[in-house]
Amino acid sequence: MLLVRQVQPNDIFPVIAVAFETLPERYNPSIFNQFYESCPEGFLVALDNDSIVGFLIGIRTSPGIARILMVGVQDAYRKKGIGSALLAQFIKEMKTQQVTRVDLEVRTSNTVALQFYQKRGFLLNATLPGFYQNGENAYSMRKEL
Ligand SMILES: CC(C)(COP(=O)(O)OP(=O)(O)OC[C@H]1O[C@@H](n2cnc3c(N)ncnc32)[C@H](O)[C@@H]1OP(=O)(O)O)[C@@H](O)C(=O)NCCC(=O)NCCS
Repeated sequence: MLLVRQVQPNDIFPVIAVAFETLPERYNPSIFNQFYESCPEGFLVALDNDSIVGFLIGIRTSPGIARILMVGVQDAYRKKGIGSALLAQFIKEMKTQQVTRVDLEVRTSNTVALQFYQKRGFLLNATLPGFYQNGENAYSMRKEL
């Protein structure tokens, strides 16, 4: 059974494994602890029978504004509504914190994620040339809550 909840300290290692598997960026593992400490309410995990199959990390960047930094769902668990459930829970949580806008960036080549966000009400805001370490461009997107 699927469960989405706030991250707990014991979840951090499995989240790092899912991030490694699902995202092209190679993050220093210590940043996951930093996000947990700075904004635990924006750090969500999706579990299937106690096993972490997806996660979302977002932070509040300024009063009223949040930013999604990472979202990943294990390949075998995609297209089952897990990404949507993580996003919906994040937005619900941010609304309770008077957040009125959520920003994010997505690789211009990541058409799956781009469509995922567009269908969930995120609008293209700008193209950010060379945003990623490998020089790839990003789309900046935002959703008013
Ligand atoms: C983007 C990502 C997080 C989406 O996660 P997901 O769990 O597949 O998302 P969902 O299942 O909620 O939605 C995906 C699609 O599956 C469909 N879907 C949802 N539940 C479904 C079900 N029970 N059966 C079949 N399809 C279903 C949804 O309709 C959705 O399609 P739509 O966008 O056409 O509406 C995932 O593809 C991923 O991890 N990608 C790699 C990492 C990445 O790119 N992250 C974003 C970087 S910014």
